[in-house]
Amino acid sequence: MGIFALVTGRPGPSGFGSASTAEQVTDGVDASNLTAIVTGGASGIGLETARVLALRKAHVIIAARNIEAAKEAKQLILKDNRSARVDVLTLDLCSIKSVGAFVDSFNALGLPLNLLINNAGVMFCPHQLSEDGIELQFATNHLGHFLLTNLLLEKMKNTARTTGVEGRIVNLSSIAHVHTYKDGIDFDKINDRISYNDKRAYGQSKLANILHANELSRRLQVHGSCGR
Ligand SMILES: NC(=O)c1ccc[n+]([C@@H]2O[C@H](COP(=O)([O-])OP(=O)(O)OC[C@H]3O[C@@H](n4cnc5c(N)ncnc54)[C@H](OP(=O)(O)O)[C@@H]3O)[C@@H](O)[C@H]2O)c1
Repeated sequence: MGIFALVTGRPGPSGFGSASTAEQVTDGVDASNLTAIVTGGASGIGLETARVLALRKAHVIIAARNIEAAKEAKQLILKDNRSARVDVLTLDLCSIKSVGAFVDSFNALGLPLNLLINNAGVMFCPHQLSEDGIELQFATNHLGHFLLTNLLLEKMKNTARTTGVEGRIVNLSSIAHVHTYKDGIDFDKINDRISYNDKRAYGQSKLANILHANELSRRLQVHGSCGR
């Protein structure tokens, strides 16, 4: 989507644009055979995504680092939709340990997985390192989702194989992906405090979201989404 369409909301070839709501886009969709994980589903865009997926009858797992906020989000969804299927699980994307624990907890539920919405994100924060020693925006927005996706990929392939329904992985990026350091992702200086710029660091993490999506899509097409 170009900047003009983004600002004006002018619909694209799909008939939808930036002014379209999630309810409009999913009107008439029956998602009752789908299970979805929404990261950062306790607030913002993630909560709206979780709410509307549940409205379309999907089984939604809200993955959130603040479990109390996630429980409140679940209650908010249930208030207007008493038959909504919503579960909450703890996930802190800036911790490799937490991502692994989340996947273990999700697998223990014995559910299939059709949709992975990599939505959670932090924006423009001051320089900080994650518990694994990685700059926080890159760790949260990209690396956490990259690891989460890899750990869930086999489950998604199995679900697609056994149900015949193609899965979907959605990485939430941003127009900010064009506003990066000079050479795009500054791999040699990911953690560098001196050259850190909060907006460019956000931009590079959002560029990483797009590169991840593009390469994953290419690999799944080359090897077949059911292949290894
Ligand atoms: N809003 C926009 O205009 C806009 C534009 C372009 C792209 N985006 C992208 O859209 C996505 C959602 O944005 P938003 O506006 O809805 O943001 P938001 O309202 O700030 O919500 C972000 C969510 O991510 C969660 N989160 C942050 N760090 C996390 C971590 N380490 N582990 C797990 N969850 C974590 C937050 O949980 P806590 O409450 O615990 O912090 C919150 O639920 C982001 O990826 C953002 O980059 C947004």
